[in-house]
Amino acid sequence: MSISSLMPVSESTSSSRPRVGGAAVRKAKLQDAVNIFELVNSLSGDGTLLRRNYAEICENVRDFAVAESEGGVFLGCGALHLYGPHLAEVRSIVVKPEAKGQGAGGKLLRALLEEGEEQGVASVCLFTRIPDFFFHFGFRVVDRTVLPDKIYKDCQNCPRLYACDEVAMVRGPLPRIAVLGPSKIPQPELVKLQTGTIPPPK
Ligand SMILES: CC(C)(COP(=O)(O)OP(=O)(O)OC[C@H]1O[C@@H](n2cnc3c(N)ncnc32)[C@H](O)[C@@H]1OP(=O)(O)O)[C@@H](O)C(=O)NCCC(=O)NCCS
Repeated sequence: MSISSLMPVSESTSSSRPRVGGAAVRKAKLQDAVNIFELVNSLSGDGTLLRRNYAEICENVRDFAVAESEGGVFLGCGALHLYGPHLAEVRSIVVKPEAKGQGAGGKLLRALLEEGEEQGVASVCLFTRIPDFFFHFGFRVVDRTVLPDKIYKDCQNCPRLYACDEVAMVRGPLPRIAVLGPSKIPQPELVKLQTGTIPPPK
């Protein structure tokens, strides 16, 4: 049984072509998780997008923005994953085939970039097969080794590790630190608990 047969599905299954002109982008809600799951994974088979399981989408739903038509039809989604103040990553950005080429993808990407700015993130990265789309939005191609956080998060366990056909891109300065994997900065010292210093409960 598919997840969508268990959960309420929005108008995204409508066969009529949505009017994308007035597409609006908003933060995703848990109720969007089924639509996100189905759209993202419809493009994971050929490696266009990383496969995301349903639980992972629910857990990270606050990372997602969704685009919808004036009539509230789900058109697409994208996520901004925060590594830290030094770096965020645009993930799972996709627009339904019938809504492509009408501005929804650009609106989603702009909203994610604005969110990164609001969070004070210095740089945004992504891996993609379509760098030309991201050139429009100020990204440039970089060597993937400058993004250790991304590599440790996703690439290590990816079956395409040694046959990756994606290019790494960054918008903003190259990150000078990493928080995953062998860090380029010393680990901060953990605060040590000293026995006897905690007052007993009253
Ligand atoms: C990439 C994608 C999200 C773009 O969404 P979209 O709604 O079609 O894009 P828009 O209509 O907002 O296009 C914005 C601009 O990018 C350009 N553009 C769109 N797709 C492009 C592509 N594949 N390559 C180069 N430029 C592209 C448009 O011409 C437009 O340029 P303009 O502002 O000068 O007119 C959509 O094509 C998609 O879902 N692709 C499949 C999933 C995918 O590959 N995601 C990226 C994973 S990293």
